[in-house]
Amino acid sequence: MSSPSLPPVLRPRRLRQNPVVRRFAQETSVAPNNLVLPMFLADGIDAPRAIASMPGVVQHTMESLIEAASGAADRGVAGVMLFGVPRPEDKDASGSHASAPDGILTRGIAALAEALGDRISIQADLCLDEFTDHGHCGVLDPSGAIDNDATLERYEAMAITLAEAGAEVLGLSGMMDGQTGSIRFALDERGLTDVILLAYSAKYASAFYGPFRDAVGSSLQGDRRTYQLDPANAREGVREAELDVAEGADIVMVKPAGHYLDVLQTIRQESPVPVWAYQVSGEYAMIEAAAAQGWIDRERAILESVTAIRRAGADVVLTYWASEIAQLLNDQTPRSR
Ligand code: PBG
Repeated sequence: MSSPSLPPVLRPRRLRQNPVVRRFAQETSVAPNNLVLPMFLADGIDAPRAIASMPGVVQHTMESLIEAASGAADRGVAGVMLFGVPRPEDKDASGSHASAPDGILTRGIAALAEALGDRISIQADLCLDEFTDHGHCGVLDPSGAIDNDATLERYEAMAITLAEAGAEVLGLSGMMDGQTGSIRFALDERGLTDVILLAYSAKYASAFYGPFRDAVGSSLQGDRRTYQLDPANAREGVREAELDVAEGADIVMVKPAGHYLDVLQTIRQESPVPVWAYQVSGEYAMIEAAAAQGWIDRERAILESVTAIRRAGADVVLTYWASEIAQLLNDQTPRSR
């Protein structure tokens, strides 16, 4: 028989009783300086182009890019991460447009740096997949397999071009072995010692990149499972982060974010350098789609998803909602009981 119930002595609900109390009881916060906005700049278009699977996100023209990035800077967003979308005819087997001085990504970085360089951090994705006609992140050997070490040479050339154009942070997203070390060495040899390397260390072969492939007009046939991580593997993600730190990464990253919070938390506990996470296109698309149906509260779901990523240990979150969240946070009026 259970004893007659006594009133509880321990009452954790005390710390939830009203908004003023809940504010000081809150363990995790999100601020604009915790956010980076990924952006797409397309070559050969004269008006921003909607991306069907990412409602609210566009492929930018140079003009609309600067305007949107400037808005993000006004709201206090920490950085913009730029992706270049070349014209289809500029793709080739080695992704040569990626390291071209007049390439779309190079020009975008230079324009952002000139317009906004002192107001927001200018960051660029360093990978070949948008620029190769086969859509892979590296170059291929005659058998059609990824040639890891030949790819490193392409990455080094791309790193130098992007850094000289004004990129302050390079996002190394190709998942080739040794990329962080070889890019660091190539930059240092050129005297580009201040360029920050953001290693996408634990980057998984994820179905949640689906909408991104639309966003950049990817040519990929097949998948990236010989270089990106198996979603089943946590220890391997932690090991990749350790190797990147040893090779000189300034920041390590987990990607996608929301389904990899365990990996993020472990890397946070072990990493001596900052840890970022990328809330990817599919994470964005799922919330937008459910909200469009009226099935979830859009703003609450957005803030909850990003708060959860921060709670698991991300210093900074790359999110397509960065500018909107910063606006929401800036608009929040002090709450009363
Ligand atoms: C590779 C890269 C990808 C993403 C960012 N960098 C695609 C891939 O690895 O297939 C995905 C980002 C997203 O889904 O939002 N350049």
